[in-house]
Amino acid sequence: MDGSTVARRESDAKMANILPNGLADNLPGSSLRNLPNIVVVGAQWGDEAKGKIIDVLACNRSMVVRYGGGNNAGHSVTVGDIVYKFHLIPSGVLYEKVVCVIADGVVIDPGVLISEMKGLEARGISMRNLKLSGNAHLILPYHRTLDLLEEERRGESKIGTTGRGIGPAYTDKAARIGIRVGDLLDKNRFEERLRDVLTWKNEVLTKLYGAEPLDADAILLEYRGYADYLRPYVTDTGALVSEAVQKGNGVLFEGAQGTLLDLDQGTYPYVTSSHPIAGGACIGTGIGPGAIDRVIGVAKSYTTRVGAGCFPTEQLNETGHYIRERGHEYGTTTGRPRRCGWLDALILRYAVQVNGLDYLSLGHLDVLAGLDEVKICVGYHTLTGETLTRLPSDLPFRTDLTPVYETLPGWGVEAEYARTFEELPQNAQAFVRRVEELAGVTIASASVGPGREQTIFIEPHWSKLTG
Ligand code: IMP
Repeated sequence: MDGSTVARRESDAKMANILPNGLADNLPGSSLRNLPNIVVVGAQWGDEAKGKIIDVLACNRSMVVRYGGGNNAGHSVTVGDIVYKFHLIPSGVLYEKVVCVIADGVVIDPGVLISEMKGLEARGISMRNLKLSGNAHLILPYHRTLDLLEEERRGESKIGTTGRGIGPAYTDKAARIGIRVGDLLDKNRFEERLRDVLTWKNEVLTKLYGAEPLDADAILLEYRGYADYLRPYVTDTGALVSEAVQKGNGVLFEGAQGTLLDLDQGTYPYVTSSHPIAGGACIGTGIGPGAIDRVIGVAKSYTTRVGAGCFPTEQLNETGHYIRERGHEYGTTTGRPRRCGWLDALILRYAVQVNGLDYLSLGHLDVLAGLDEVKICVGYHTLTGETLTRLPSDLPFRTDLTPVYETLPGWGVEAEYARTFEELPQNAQAFVRRVEELAGVTIASASVGPGREQTIFIEPHWSKLTG
């Protein structure tokens, strides 16, 4: 066992002490009982630290399923002193007995997936329980090239994509010219599909963008190596997930990105090309809505956003800087500094609406510590004197909105040592309670730092969520 495996095991043991109400009985290795299937979604613009809450919830589930997005996502999980960063592999992989599924709705850059697998294996984490859907679409070299070229062409109105080829891969899926993991495993079918699609893509690259054409033989050679490596992991994940759902083994659906980046329900066109919302869990895995027992949204105690687009509570000042530096608000995937601002209750209410949130997990309370006062946006004033209390559907194009803030007293840095709700500074407790009222959803957990032990379970809600 190497150092990281030891740290992980020790941390699993600690987990047994921090989990309330006998949940520790269900740590890996113990027998599973009838457990609810839970979807975890981002309630804002992504980067809400979903990885952390997924890690906490995964310890007593049989399966964690990633249902959408690609390696534009970056989930960090801190175990002891070790930080694990996941882009495609579900965070549940840290538990030896949890089956981790990358389902149909995810777009796979196989080179990235394989290096993530190898990197984790090198740290003592087994890939034995990793399953990959044959229906998941592949990201090919022309997707990455086109992502960058399309952004350049957009000029001033660029989206600020992660440049990973996500949008172009989903575009091809919808245009029915996508190539899937299942195709990759069939040598002849893959070659036929690739040559056909590449003829068209090279026309676009050379004639529209004046770029160099891509070489089919080089791509075939590279991707055949990926096929051999990934073959043992590819399976009918739809059947696997359905079976786990039917058995009541407790399936956790891991959302990537966040509600406002949803292709249909987000701040279009400044969105990603998939469905991060809870409904995406059905489309992306092949289960019916009835299979979902609970939905939990994850939010920060403030708001961040990467890439372009509207952000009414953005703080382009000392406060924004304070939050960015204390919260290490730099992208896990691209390293870009995140835009930072106050918590927006209208966004949370909207997230409750479109995801059907049963609970909220409110994180990063420690980041706001040290400020004399903190603000929550409770409405938007318009130029015509109106006050909006719901997110307007044309939000991306509104330049006339001024946030209306409610100001609360701040709290001290001792917040990060709180392990129960009662141990939180009074002002932080009042903040959590106020967010709960304004968002209109029960807060089941709060977080005061990246460590597993820095999650505060709020009873009886947490037990109702998990049990
Ligand atoms: P794409 O997903 O790379 O096409 O990027 C589209 C938009 O979604 C850009 O504004 C990205 O910054 C944003 N985005 C994509 N993935 C994430 C994420 O995991 N966290 C935060 N923003 C993201």
